[in-house]
Amino acid sequence: MATPTSPAFFLLHVFLILVCSSKKGHAVSANEITKTYFRDVHADSLLPSSVCDQSNKASSLKVASRYGPCSVTGDPKTFPSAAEIVLQDDIRVKSLRTRLSMNSSTTGVLNEEKTTIPSTHNGAGYTVTVGLGTPKKDFSLLFDTGSDLTWTQCEPCLGGCFPQNGEKFDPTKSTTYKNLSCLSEPCKSIAKESAQGCSSGTCLYRVQYGTGYTVGFLATETLTITHSDVFENFVIGCGEKNGGKFLGESGLLGLGRSSIALPSQTSSKYKNLFSYCLPASSSSTGRLSFGGEVSPAAKFTPINTKFPELYGLDVAGISVGGRKLPIDASVFRTGGTIIDSGTTVTFLPSTAYSALSSAFQELMTNYTLTNGTSSFHPCYDFSKYANDPISIPKISIFFEGGVEVDIDGSGILFAANGLEKVCLAFRDNGNDKDVAIFGNLQQKTYEVVYDVAKGMVGFAPGGC
Ligand SMILES: *[C@@H]1O[C@H](CO)[C@@H](O)[C@H](O)[C@H]1NC(C)=O
Ligand SMILES: *[C@@H]1O[C@H](CO)[C@@H](O)[C@H](O)[C@H]1NC(C)=O
Ligand SMILES: *[C@@H]1O[C@H](CO)[C@@H](O)[C@H](O)[C@H]1NC(C)=O
Ligand SMILES: *[C@@H]1O[C@H](CO)[C@@H](O)[C@H](O)[C@H]1NC(C)=O
Repeated sequence: MATPTSPAFFLLHVFLILVCSSKKGHAVSANEITKTYFRDVHADSLLPSSVCDQSNKASSLKVASRYGPCSVTGDPKTFPSAAEIVLQDDIRVKSLRTRLSMNSSTTGVLNEEKTTIPSTHNGAGYTVTVGLGTPKKDFSLLFDTGSDLTWTQCEPCLGGCFPQNGEKFDPTKSTTYKNLSCLSEPCKSIAKESAQGCSSGTCLYRVQYGTGYTVGFLATETLTITHSDVFENFVIGCGEKNGGKFLGESGLLGLGRSSIALPSQTSSKYKNLFSYCLPASSSSTGRLSFGGEVSPAAKFTPINTKFPELYGLDVAGISVGGRKLPIDASVFRTGGTIIDSGTTVTFLPSTAYSALSSAFQELMTNYTLTNGTSSFHPCYDFSKYANDPISIPKISIFFEGGVEVDIDGSGILFAANGLEKVCLAFRDNGNDKDVAIFGNLQQKTYEVVYDVAKGMVGFAPGGC
């Protein structure tokens, strides 16, 4: 956190002095412009690394990329290809859009194929480890601002489970596990957003994701976030039939906005407030914090409640190399924008995307342009720069309320094929109507604060 004595605050302070003093001069030299509006990036840092630096700045939960040396399996070889990331994002974005266009009246009961609600996909993202049960057992879960139910695979995996790291949760070995009845409030609540059923009075649930699913018993169990933060009777899904693309994780941690999502269930202690920082590289860790003090450096933008289940934000503009792009504000208003922890690359309305990619290309003429991919352009060949820093234009996203998110270098470029094809890390929605998505690549190194109680999302630079 950038407290007044921390190095992050100090750097920020120095940076502000530099920016302010450069503005005071009569004429600003080209060199100064380059320093302010460009950032140096080591091309190498865009490539996957094989070593995990475990240092963690706070007592909150450690956040790790689900790929690479800090992942659940610790296997540095798990990095997905660019094509895989594109595919995963496509599936997730499609399911988020489908969900946004659906009404709660379209939900139904189990065993009726037509009632399946496409929800979020669990392809991309970050994991945390929490404790469940008494005695407590640790489980690594993908955290997801795009879904609500927290669930883990449960023994006996009657309908089949996917492989996970370590043993699966066994309710018979926990003294605090309790099935929920069909008449309970959480059971009625889950019925509003997923399929629900009843077996001799016990509540069954089924959540369908873009390509994954979990079916099981709705239950209450003791959730341990940290040794001093223990929640009894926390509603979880005990999944006995699960599928999807998991890489050793046991399930999901739901950070959405409904009453069964974690922020609401823990609101007596955490006041419906959480924050995370996604690390710049998959070889280091970030953190997920609940409650507590908000970083004084955080700037807040209101949550747009147009999307009842997801975190909607209002984008006010984009700048590249210090120049605000001439994009009409209505372009961002039409489809709206959501912030998502599980979509990798930011998706923009076509008009905004075209303006961004051409402005970026104009400021990158010093580098060798190479063929783009079907999803990314412009792309550059940086193979000659393995040891030298490259100077790339800064990109800022502005949100309503005067909030500027100056994207970290790790969120501007994306290595689509080693250093031979490094591309602008944004994607085109294909039209100006669909919802835009502020993805996790562009959130890196910021502390992103979800003050759900106040209806605000905040951003503080230098979060991890
Ligand atoms: C939801 O249902 C209402 C009433 O049936 C309808 O007017 C509205 O357009 C629907 N919303 C969406 C997003 O489909
Ligand atoms: C929960 O319900 C299932 C299905 O009815 C049952 O097999 C299991 O024993 C129940 N567990 C507890 C702790 O009541
Ligand atoms: C391009 O390279 C030249 C020569 O090294 C340098 O002076 C100039 O600032 C660079 N331009 C940009 C936009 O980086
Ligand atoms: C770019 O694409 C064109 C047409 O498909 C192809 O002829 C050319 O070899 C490609 N260039 C590079 C550097 O891959």
